[in-house]
Amino acid sequence: MMKVLAIFGTRPEAIKMAPLVKELGRYPGQISCRVAVTAQHREMLDQVLRLFEIEPEHDLGIMQPGQSLFDITGRALSGLEKVLREEQPDLVLVHGDTTTTFVASLASYYMQIPVGHVEAGLRTGNKFSPFPEELNRRLTGALADLHFAPTARARENLLLEGVRRESIFVTGNTVIDALLGTVSGDYVFTRPELKAIDHRNSRILLVTTHRRENLGEPMRHIYQALREIIESYPDVRIVFPVHKNPAVRSVVDSVLGGLERVHLTEPLDYQPFVNLMQKSYIVLTDSGGMQEEAPSLGKPVLVLRNTTERPEAVDAGTVLLVGTEREAVLRETRRLLDDKDYYRGMAEAVNPYGDGHASRRIAEFILYKYGMTKIPPVGFGG
Ligand code: UD1
Ligand code: UDP
Repeated sequence: MMKVLAIFGTRPEAIKMAPLVKELGRYPGQISCRVAVTAQHREMLDQVLRLFEIEPEHDLGIMQPGQSLFDITGRALSGLEKVLREEQPDLVLVHGDTTTTFVASLASYYMQIPVGHVEAGLRTGNKFSPFPEELNRRLTGALADLHFAPTARARENLLLEGVRRESIFVTGNTVIDALLGTVSGDYVFTRPELKAIDHRNSRILLVTTHRRENLGEPMRHIYQALREIIESYPDVRIVFPVHKNPAVRSVVDSVLGGLERVHLTEPLDYQPFVNLMQKSYIVLTDSGGMQEEAPSLGKPVLVLRNTTERPEAVDAGTVLLVGTEREAVLRETRRLLDDKDYYRGMAEAVNPYGDGHASRRIAEFILYKYGMTKIPPVGFGG
């Protein structure tokens, strides 16, 4: 029996690892999958664990209010040493590009335990954008033994860095597995403020921001643009589930607090959140994962960042890189609200990131690589 340990710590890692943890549970004679969370996030992580009914075997509980990169790195590294010594897994699985991801890979390397990197090979080429995610994923790539690339482009990035071809497998992104299992046409909101919104007669802008490089002035500029939008379009509503980071909250409250038709909420559970995305008109975000989900639902995305590691939907025309300048955010939002043909062009549903079977492919590649099947798996895109 092969022992796999999945390690993650934040909301998006949990959303994208949950379908894989579930999938690995379907090979009871071959794979035993256990879970360790650093809990770099607390409430936002717990929301996802509850939804997908995952009870971690280890919970390091490292989160502190206003934590620094040093806090996360140090606390996660020392906590994981004990977990790895106790578990002695045959393979550690990590996801994406958070500090938990990098530190879990480093800790595994120190113990000479192989690492499988889910969502491998995303790159902007700019080491400070996004910060510190670009370096987290590059360093994780250097430490990993198996690379689960979501797209062919991600595989190319890894090959260009000299990663061995036979250690890379194109799987699609597990976020699409999670999304397709969660969005439903007849979903009814339980939160009164979401239930009360007349989705048919108002256009909803779904907004989220949290990137470290956007804290402070860039966020203020984004929110000022949103304020102007709400003042000039009476049929527009903004729903903005505000990240728990106090540095985000203070600026949001000072620019958007108390405005009519602006709904500032706590972070939403994944299920209402993606069903709200389904009912939204435009998504404005600096999130990584939402750039993958919204195109699949046919929602135009304005990316509030200067770089993206997810160029596939930009090429497909459903995602636009806008940056954080007030003028640019205002101009591009107005254009989508004013020009129906332009809107329709961006609202095409495209699925460059997956087909809902990424977790199965990852499991099949693991079984193949560890000699538990002789059948070579077929990658995403053939
Ligand atoms: C982290 C990741 C980022 C990822 C994001 C997803 C790093 C360095 N950053 O950024 O890559 O895109 O998660 O959301 O790995 N907080 C709470 N409760 C929670 C979560 C956060 O109170 O459940 C507050 C705490 O005050 C915490 C702060 O938010 O100190 C920031 O959390 P942190 O994980 O350091 O950074 P994120 O911006 O969430
Ligand atoms: N999300 C959620 N509730 C919210 C906001 C986002 O469940 O209130 C989900 C969203 O659908 C996506 C993920 O959280 O799957 C994105 O997380 P985040 O933006 O925090 O991180 P990133 O993707 O940028 O790493």
